[in-house]
Amino acid sequence: MNILSIESSCDETAAAITRCGREVLCDEIFSQVGFHAKYGGVVPEIASRKHIEVIRELTVSALKKSGLTKHDLDAIAVTNAPGLIGALLVGVNFAKALAFGLKLPLIPVHHIRGHIAANYIAEPELEPPFLCLVVSGGHSLITAVKSYTEFEIIGTTRDDAAGECFDKAARIMGLGYPGGPAIDKLASSGGTISPERLAEFKLPIANVDGKEFDFSFSGVKTTVVNLVHNFEQKGEDYDKAALAQALTNAISDALLPRLFTAAERFGYGTIAVAGGVAANSTIRSRLQEGCETRGLRLVMPPLSLCADNAAMIGCQAYYEFQAGNTATWDLNAYAALPVNSEQ
Ligand code: KG4
Ligand code: ZN
Repeated sequence: MNILSIESSCDETAAAITRCGREVLCDEIFSQVGFHAKYGGVVPEIASRKHIEVIRELTVSALKKSGLTKHDLDAIAVTNAPGLIGALLVGVNFAKALAFGLKLPLIPVHHIRGHIAANYIAEPELEPPFLCLVVSGGHSLITAVKSYTEFEIIGTTRDDAAGECFDKAARIMGLGYPGGPAIDKLASSGGTISPERLAEFKLPIANVDGKEFDFSFSGVKTTVVNLVHNFEQKGEDYDKAALAQALTNAISDALLPRLFTAAERFGYGTIAVAGGVAANSTIRSRLQEGCETRGLRLVMPPLSLCADNAAMIGCQAYYEFQAGNTATWDLNAYAALPVNSEQ
């Protein structure tokens, strides 16, 4: 089954062709980062306009590179939630028109389900059930993947997502946008950072009353902002590499112990990770270490599949199709939608 998939939920326009879920025939991405960088974050209106400008050409190019023609396609898939509503609508309407014109089924895909599916491409043997840590720009959660289309949220952030926290810290530290990769690079720039250097930056790790697996990042974010403002007001220099590492440690210390406890408590032997923040080198190496120590199997998508792409959407779409989850022509886009909700 050949699926043409479209992703336009944020600032990447992407089109891919996948075969029977896990075989990626081609994966085209147009990143808008350069257009948003000068504003320090994604400007929704610019994102929608850029998607409109490139989506057709990108799709034609994807089809050409896959060696297929439109007559070889069996379905059209599209991310319809969650994300920037204008950006999502560009993809949804484009996909709808394609599916209608080609008389093909239209498959709506939840963006976070797509991120999780990147693990199926990375590890062809992987099958549910497993536990997944989802850490992206807009979402942070620990979810049980019970089947390809059934999810149970075990823990989630009460406020900011991990990626948001990295992006905000990077902005205040003058590292530009997107912040996650810049913080990662800075944290690992000077080799191992001594405990003395780290001790200068005490960042809180919050517990949520009565919700053992939930976490909160707003306190960490605000503390970083206040620390940097304080240094700036006094005209003092500060150790940016150490702050970047302290922030990464705080985020990883909030997420990983909860993930490992959940695996033990609910009896999961396999852990997967998904979303842009899953590219973070500290989080990746700590996951590796933690899983090795506990005898857990770890699946991590390569960096290219952690960021937004359409191959992951095509992969998830295959399983949504098998579960009978196709759309009618009134398919809408949603800015927010839980990963476990039926469309
Ligand atoms: O999954 P994604 O591409 O888009 C969303 O669905 O949100 O995630 C983007 C987020 C951004 O916040 C970005 O700063 C963060 O992932 N990110 C990273 C790294 N690479 C991307 N955060 C930490 N370390 C990285 N290496
Ligand atoms: Zn994403």
